[in-house]
Amino acid sequence: MHEPTQAQPALPELLNDGLARVATARTTDELRALEREFLGKGGVIATLLAAVPSLPAEQRRAAGQGANELKSKLAEALAARERELQEQHLSAELAGASFDPTLPATPPRTGSLHPLTQVTRELEAIFTSMGYAILDGPEVERAYYNFEALNIPADHPAREMHDTFWCDRAGSLVLRTHTSPVQVRAMERLKPPFRAIVPGKVFRQETTDASHEHTFHQMEGLVVGEGITVGHLIGTLKTFLREVFRRDLEVRLRPGYFPFVEPGFELDARCPFCTKGCSVCKQSTWIELCPCGMVHPNVLRAGGIDPERWTGFAFGLGLSRLTMLRYRIDDVRHLLGGDLRFLEQF
Ligand code: PHE
Repeated sequence: MHEPTQAQPALPELLNDGLARVATARTTDELRALEREFLGKGGVIATLLAAVPSLPAEQRRAAGQGANELKSKLAEALAARERELQEQHLSAELAGASFDPTLPATPPRTGSLHPLTQVTRELEAIFTSMGYAILDGPEVERAYYNFEALNIPADHPAREMHDTFWCDRAGSLVLRTHTSPVQVRAMERLKPPFRAIVPGKVFRQETTDASHEHTFHQMEGLVVGEGITVGHLIGTLKTFLREVFRRDLEVRLRPGYFPFVEPGFELDARCPFCTKGCSVCKQSTWIELCPCGMVHPNVLRAGGIDPERWTGFAFGLGLSRLTMLRYRIDDVRHLLGGDLRFLEQF
């Protein structure tokens, strides 16, 4: 052992004093204070170590070692006392019976994906596996894209099929009434051939009831290429149905009028839930799946595509409707109602 200098109390003394005070500390605050006093910046140990370089050379090593030993012993004692205090605290609480440690814990509340999100993701996966790009478009849309570019001029009666929320007096901005405006935006951006889907929100000024909502979701599909025919359209939608319902469903086309497709169809599929008629198919064994058709030459032209060379098909899947079918939801207003009692079921 080296000789203590005047300024430094002997290490064993410091150790005994420190250990005694740690052992009798009553609170973690007291422990923190001791930790600062001994181990902290400018504390006892730091002072000891700072003095080492000014010691005679032959004492330095021992002094340094001594200070470091003191440091680790005190640190150990502090940690041990802290555990002790925590245990005491816990047993005091248990003894006080202020709570029942045998009660089962409250399960954590976990969230889940909205049913619309789940269905959207599933359809996106199916179509991307068939080489489709996923596109987006503005919800506040120019009337030009929502109507004119889709072969629906201002005086056209088909505009009345869409109860439009107009956004300005000039009549140049609307809340898009369908996802079809992205057809022309896609043509402007992508050079044919291309395939794209456009999932998104659409808006119509409607009186709401169990099957009508002012805000709902659609997924547009658009394919443009050389030699694209109705056969490709039917094949694509049958493949899509097989993926969703995990089996082949018979389909049929009925004529349907939409100014932006020619010919235009309504595609029906055999009801996936029954063979003899049920409430979903309204006893008909057919469900209306989606409007579709061959892209009208005027629409291709509006998108800067030569209709003499390229043809295409488009379809409009009702995401809200498909979600309702998938989960047997009987009222469309549940979807965006935000009621947790509904949402927590998914
Ligand atoms: N956009 C049409 C609607 O919402 C649906 C549709 C899409 C029809 C694509 C044909 C082709 O009413």
